[in-house]
Amino acid sequence: EDAIRQELGSLHGIPLYKSFIEGWPQVKAFQARPDDLLISTYPKSGTTWLSEIMDMIYHNGDVEKCRRDAIYNRVPFLELKVSKSLCGVDQLENTPSPRLVKTHLPVQLLPTSFWEKDCKIIYMARNPKDVVISYYYFHQMAKIHHDPGTKAEFLENFMAGKVPYGSWYDHVRGWWEKKREKKILYLFYEDMKKDPRQEVQKILQFLGKELSERTVESILHHTSFQEMKKNPAANYETMLPTLMDHSISPFLRKGISGDWKNHFTVAQNERFDQHYQELMAGSDLCFQMEL
Ligand code: PPS
Repeated sequence: EDAIRQELGSLHGIPLYKSFIEGWPQVKAFQARPDDLLISTYPKSGTTWLSEIMDMIYHNGDVEKCRRDAIYNRVPFLELKVSKSLCGVDQLENTPSPRLVKTHLPVQLLPTSFWEKDCKIIYMARNPKDVVISYYYFHQMAKIHHDPGTKAEFLENFMAGKVPYGSWYDHVRGWWEKKREKKILYLFYEDMKKDPRQEVQKILQFLGKELSERTVESILHHTSFQEMKKNPAANYETMLPTLMDHSISPFLRKGISGDWKNHFTVAQNERFDQHYQELMAGSDLCFQMEL
């Protein structure tokens, strides 16, 4: 049972699960294909949601095709390495093109092949207050993690970047800056909540793809929180019970903007806001903390 729990090591200064670091040489040398589409996020920012939307777009809204396998197999996780058999790179090598690829890597660690092949990239960012709460519950249910301690302790670690994938602030800013020179569509979880139709249209435009109104309608329905939560191919319930315990907290937990208000104390919120101002100073990147 405990074998799965992992200490965090450091990958070029970024805290990461030790087994992922062991698999790093293979990730670094990963050969992207020109028609790969990369879904990049800081953890808990809407990766699974965007992945389901992308798979639906790739399959022209065919719900049955999108039930062919679990989301973590339809959109393999590049740097995943838990055991010999649970390895993102191996999985991707056996995936036919056009591939959808998931990563949480900070921009400076993305394998160079994605840049060389000029792959399309969609980044999704979510406001940090909801990210930290979602990440806290994820630390409890995903057994790769040690006990995250109290919410207050976890909040401090998050602000200090002492969590897997490091500083949220560096992550969102790094990818935001990269957008100036590369083909990156930068989306926000909060926008997707507020007007999913508009965000799906942005994606279609980015892909140079057209879909009928009816197909878009079907995509929006199938990828709503309620539908995904009850869909075994999207809700992670089929994941090995040695990896996740959904009775502690479901993977699709709440799916809203502003849940942090149910968790932050007034003092924590003030401290967080001040720290946020300091770390985001000088950036034109803006987050909606609630809807
Ligand atoms: S991971 O482990 O990093 O890949 O997790 P990720 O998928 O990025 O984030 C999980 C959070 O996204 C929420 N989610 C959704 N919200 C709205 N609509 C849909 N369809 C949806 N699907 C997933 C999920 O509930 C997690 O957020 P919280 O706040 O914990 O509910």
